[in-house]
Amino acid sequence: MKTKIFYFSTTGNSLALARNIANELGETELISIPKVIGGEVDLNVSRLGFVFPVYAWGLPNMVVEFLKGLDLKSQPYIFAVATCGGTPGRTLLQLRGILRKSGADLQAGFVTKEGSNSVAEAPGFIKFVESISGQPYGSGRDRLYEINKIIRSGKEHRPETSSLPANFVGGLLHKMSSLAADSIKAFDKNYLVDDKCTMCRTCERVCPMANIRVDGGKPVWNHNCGGCNACIQWCPQQAIHIKNETCRYHHPDIKASDLMLR
Ligand SMILES: Cc1cc2nc3c(=O)[nH]c(=O)nc-3n(C[C@H](O)[C@H](O)[C@H](O)COP(=O)(O)O)c2cc1C
Repeated sequence: MKTKIFYFSTTGNSLALARNIANELGETELISIPKVIGGEVDLNVSRLGFVFPVYAWGLPNMVVEFLKGLDLKSQPYIFAVATCGGTPGRTLLQLRGILRKSGADLQAGFVTKEGSNSVAEAPGFIKFVESISGQPYGSGRDRLYEINKIIRSGKEHRPETSSLPANFVGGLLHKMSSLAADSIKAFDKNYLVDDKCTMCRTCERVCPMANIRVDGGKPVWNHNCGGCNACIQWCPQQAIHIKNETCRYHHPDIKASDLMLR
C-alpha cells in the first residue's frame, strides 16, 4: 500500500518522526513541504500523511498555505501527527477543518511531545496555557508502535488536542498571531550576527521561507520571516543570536544537511 508523508520541520523533531513512521509502514515517500509548495503535487496514493510542528497552538502558516493548494477530494485515508512541546491546543481540529473544506477529512490525528526547541525563556502567557493544557502526550519514539498500528489498520482516531480551556485560549491566541502575520514577517529584526560568522550559508540553506541571503557578507534577513529560529538553531558557529536566548536545540538524529532546502 503506497503512502506519501508530507512534512514540515525546522529542528528535526517532525522529520525524525516522519522517517520512523515511513520505515515502519514501508513503501512510503517522504516529501518536504517547503521544497514542493507552489508546484504540482501527485496525490495518487492509498494513504496520505502530514507531519509538522505546532506553532502558536496551531498549524504553521506554510502548512496552511500548502494544504490550500491541494486537491484532496478523492483521498481515501489521511493521517497527521503534530509534534510539539506539550501544548498542541486545537491544531489538529484546525487541520481537520481545512481538510473538510476541501472535501476530505482527517481519519486519524496524533500529537507527540518532543524536545523543546525554544531559544528563549517563554513569556508568562505561554506558561499559563501550558499550565492548563492537561496531561501531556508521549513522545513520537514512545508512541510509534501505537500510531503505526492505527495507521496500518486504517482505523479512525479522533484528533488529539489539549484540554478544553487550553484549546479555547490557545485558539484565540493562534487567531491573533495569524492576524499579526505581517509583524511576524519582521521578527527577523530581532536577530543579531556576531564575528564568529564564517559565511558558511547554513542559515540561508535551512530557512524554510528562503528569507536569508549571504552574498559575500554576513547573513541578511529580508523580512519574510516565519519566526521558526532555524537560522539560530543550526548555525554551526552559534554566531546568530536573539535577545534573552537560553539554549539551542535540534533533534539528535537529524543533521542540518537533512533539512537543507537549497
Ligand atoms: C514559532 C514556534 C512556535 C511554537 N509554538 C508551540 C506551541 O504553541 N505549543 C507547543 O507545544 N510547542 C510549540 N512550539 C514547539 C514545537 O512545536 C516543537 O518543538 C516541535 O516538535 C518542533 O518540530 P520540528 O523540530 O520538526 O520543527 C513552537 C516552536 C516554534 C519555533
